[in-house]
Amino acid sequence: MTEWLKTGWRSKPRVQMPTYTDTAALEAVEAKLAKYPPLVFAGEARRLKDELAAAARGEAFLLQGGDCAESFDQFSADGIRDTFKVMLQMAMVLTYGAKVPVVKLGRMAGQFAKPRSADTETVDGVELPSFRGDIINELDFTADARIPNPEKMLQAYMQSAATLNLLRAFSTGGFADMHRVHSWTLGFAEGQGTAKYQDIATRIQDSIDFMAAAGITGGTTHEFSTVDFYTSHESLLLEYEEALTRLDSTSGNWLAGSGHMVWIGDRTRQPDGAHVEFASGVLNPIGLKCGPTTTAEDLKELIAKLNPENEEGRLTLIARFGAGNVSEHLPRLIKAVKEVGANVLWVCDPMHGNTIKSDSGYKTRPFEKVLGEVREFFAVHADEGTVPGGVHFEMTGQDVTECTGGVRAVSDEDLSSRYHTACDPRLNASQSLELAFLVAEELTKLRSENRSKAAG
Ligand code: PEP
Ligand code: CO
Repeated sequence: MTEWLKTGWRSKPRVQMPTYTDTAALEAVEAKLAKYPPLVFAGEARRLKDELAAAARGEAFLLQGGDCAESFDQFSADGIRDTFKVMLQMAMVLTYGAKVPVVKLGRMAGQFAKPRSADTETVDGVELPSFRGDIINELDFTADARIPNPEKMLQAYMQSAATLNLLRAFSTGGFADMHRVHSWTLGFAEGQGTAKYQDIATRIQDSIDFMAAAGITGGTTHEFSTVDFYTSHESLLLEYEEALTRLDSTSGNWLAGSGHMVWIGDRTRQPDGAHVEFASGVLNPIGLKCGPTTTAEDLKELIAKLNPENEEGRLTLIARFGAGNVSEHLPRLIKAVKEVGANVLWVCDPMHGNTIKSDSGYKTRPFEKVLGEVREFFAVHADEGTVPGGVHFEMTGQDVTECTGGVRAVSDEDLSSRYHTACDPRLNASQSLELAFLVAEELTKLRSENRSKAAG
């Protein structure tokens, strides 16, 4: 086998990447980024891999979530705090249901570049290149704004570094203390007639009270007051990814220094393409989106390329088929995985197969469809005897109106009031938490089924 090079992707067919016209400017940016510190370290990526391996065995559960696209304009400490906060609340609810640790993985600190369904956008007869995320060009509908500008990579790097810095501070500085996290959850859905949520919240409180009474206050213990929080993004803009790739001196392997996990999108997973080539050689855990058009043959080839050693925790398959389509597609891909005996972690992304245009013209996702896909994902895994190891949501801690439905029902007419996403519609804080309660129910059901199987 020829040695992997971080530049190797350059000789492969590429899709969804901008063509920079000012090559001198591009090279100057790449040279700068290559000298900047990596954002993450190899030991952290390896630890995440171990945790994902546990999730694949059913001994942990993955919660991956965050913006569809991070934005330069909406960058703020409050925004980061609110998403972090709602993810911790969700994790607490899921831990309660699954009775296993929840691996917390943000779509944060690097989620800037977006694949698009069309290369151009036409408004009132004017055709311009599509917006591809703040790391590439600008949303304004002017010819200038849509020119890919390599300098934007530097701003994305700085914003990622600042985001990660705050996340690390929140994780260990007392903000993530379990007692506080739970008190945030108590107010959820008060007076909404949602007794079952209150019931779980009360049980969590009972457990905490019990531990306190038994002297396990955990006030200063590490497990109660700190969390591990990891970052992930789609590895799309390969000039940026290559420039942040570093040799890990302890293992002699290459690290994608831009985030703990990187994933390959549904539009860039060509087995012989540039994106797969890049991901194949870095030591990080890798995500791979699997959609309705993923064939069993492609999946087998991708598994062989991305995880030739069949390492546990290396490969996470993120299923995104759309509600109503899971039973058609997931079993055939699970079969392919079984045929090659691959170690994979199966995760459900119930967002990207459920995007519709609402009557009011907004891109939205109905909450019932999101939930429906999660339920189908659990049902198929129960039938197949495989592990439903996690969920992947586009969500925010802010009170936006982008997805319809939920206990505090967002209607089609409400969408215009707080529609702020820089790309796809996200679940708001209350919808995210509601979903966590519903996933917790599925996990509780699964646990009791497994227990009765073990007993019988
Ligand atoms: C995304 O996760 O934002 C995305 C574009 O997903 P997919 O590649 O699955 O369409
Ligand atoms: Co998206």
